[in-house]
Amino acid sequence: MSLFSVDDSLCTRCGACIAECPVVIIEGRDGFPVPVSKADELCVRCGHCVAVCPHGALDHENMSAAQCPPVLKELAVTEAQVSQFFRSRRSIRNYRDRAVDRTTLTRLIETARYAPTGHNSQLVRWLVVYDTAEVRRLSGLVADWMRFMIKEQPAMAAEFHWDLLVRQWDGGMDRICRGAPHVIVAHAPKDNPMSQGSCTIAMAYLELTAMSMGLGACWAGYFDIAARFWPPMTEALALPEGHGNFGSMMVGYPTYRYHRIPLRNDPDIIFR
Ligand SMILES: Cc1cc2nc3c(=O)[nH]c(=O)nc-3n(C[C@H](O)[C@H](O)[C@H](O)COP(=O)(O)O)c2cc1C
Repeated sequence: MSLFSVDDSLCTRCGACIAECPVVIIEGRDGFPVPVSKADELCVRCGHCVAVCPHGALDHENMSAAQCPPVLKELAVTEAQVSQFFRSRRSIRNYRDRAVDRTTLTRLIETARYAPTGHNSQLVRWLVVYDTAEVRRLSGLVADWMRFMIKEQPAMAAEFHWDLLVRQWDGGMDRICRGAPHVIVAHAPKDNPMSQGSCTIAMAYLELTAMSMGLGACWAGYFDIAARFWPPMTEALALPEGHGNFGSMMVGYPTYRYHRIPLRNDPDIIFR
């Protein structure tokens, strides 16, 4: 099979696949889509050509139309639903003493992986720190990093009140991972300029998806920074060679639910 094949009996020559291909590797021969030369090399395997065809006429060598699930109209969400959903998402900082099963966490990641990635590189990979005792151990390393920072970078430590966080940690109050049973880390190649953006967006998807599944989540910022800069923590995380963490999220079942949407600053917008 060439890069893609088109069923002549289904194709209406509407040109959608040609227009939508992000890397312009489909041309129309009398309106019929054919690959340009070197198409195979240039293709980013995004599947837009398959997904945009209204008739299921195009099969890509990496995904046939039959393999790609249809977009179901009955599941479409309204603007009002999206607006309430996004605005009612909250960072969750109290978790029930109950593990989330691995199948549920896998489902969560399976949706989050549909976040956009630069050049459809799909470079985001996932580490689930599933064992709650390990989450606590890693949080202890974050507290050690804060102790180090209090000594070495007192101005920064004072700005973020790390002395207080460390005292609270020592007193049994976990403001680092908030007693969450699990932490999910998005990691990617350290030297790829797309890594940070792609992981951040994937994490945003993950946080919102968690909410739709009755889970709570919260960015684990201290955890994530310590994992980048504090060698004992980096070693403990043991990411694959050449990979760095670009976002970490606490996940668990929330203790409380929110009943109102707190106010936020008005958007600062300039139209030009
Ligand atoms: C990059 C980033 C790092 C964060 N790190 C933490 C953290 O370490 N601990 C925490 O409790 N909240 C953390 N948060 C959550 C913010 O405090 C929270 O988004 C903000 O207070 C607004 O609340 P909301 O998310 O409920 O709207 C972080 C958020 C972001 C975007």
